Amino acid sequence: MVVQSSLIARFVSLVRRKFSQKHMFNHQFSNDKWDGLWDVPELARYSVITGYTKYYCKEPRVLDLGCGEGVLQQKFSYEDYAYYLGIDFSEAAIEKAKCIENDKARFELGNLNNMNIDGLFDVIIYNESLYYLNDPPGAIRAMFKNLKPGGIFIVSMHKVGDERDWLWAALDEILDLKDKTSVSNRSNTTWTIGVYRIKQAQELFQ
Ligand SMILES: C[S@@+](CC[C@H](N)C(=O)[O-])C[C@H]1O[C@@H](n2cnc3c(N)ncnc32)[C@H](O)[C@@H]1O
Repeated sequence: MVVQSSLIARFVSLVRRKFSQKHMFNHQFSNDKWDGLWDVPELARYSVITGYTKYYCKEPRVLDLGCGEGVLQQKFSYEDYAYYLGIDFSEAAIEKAKCIENDKARFELGNLNNMNIDGLFDVIIYNESLYYLNDPPGAIRAMFKNLKPGGIFIVSMHKVGDERDWLWAALDEILDLKDKTSVSNRSNTTWTIGVYRIKQAQELFQ
């Protein structure tokens, strides 16, 4: 009985936390709290992500998971991609992103913790969004079916002590690391960006 009620309490607290996270992002995007993402101090990581994308794929179909207002899409030129889909659970972020849609770029609402995405992509990007998810390695595995053979995952995570070391290690376990770059700005924020393919044996069982 005690075990059961403590499990229920943990479940309720998880639901609360996740609900309030969405609420928090929505509030922040509504109040322009993420406008700094457009500024020079953030430029380095976007440049590495666009650079990797262009190096590995010609005119890719890009899936930007946790896209926010679509800052990353704006760092590509129109010719760089064949199709661009950004997904985020913040209505306020997606409303802003919809202003920069074009005939090849779309932004849609969706919660990455429990959504089933249709379509195949050459590049699937988690740009500072993976660590917000309930089960980051599980979320990546769930996207295997959406990656074209030979396609890549790109993951960017900024450094917060050793908090995310376990997640980098988990990614190395489930994926085939192709390259990794770290960049820092003058305020000493450091982002690490990893590029991965699906391990070949796993590709066979997709
Ligand atoms: C730090 S912001 C990064 C935004 C964008 N990728 C960028 O770098 O310009 C994290 C983003 O992840 C989104 N996010 C967090 N958890 C999410 C979830 N479960 N489903 C969809 N989006 C999520 C937030 O709404 C927010 O836009």
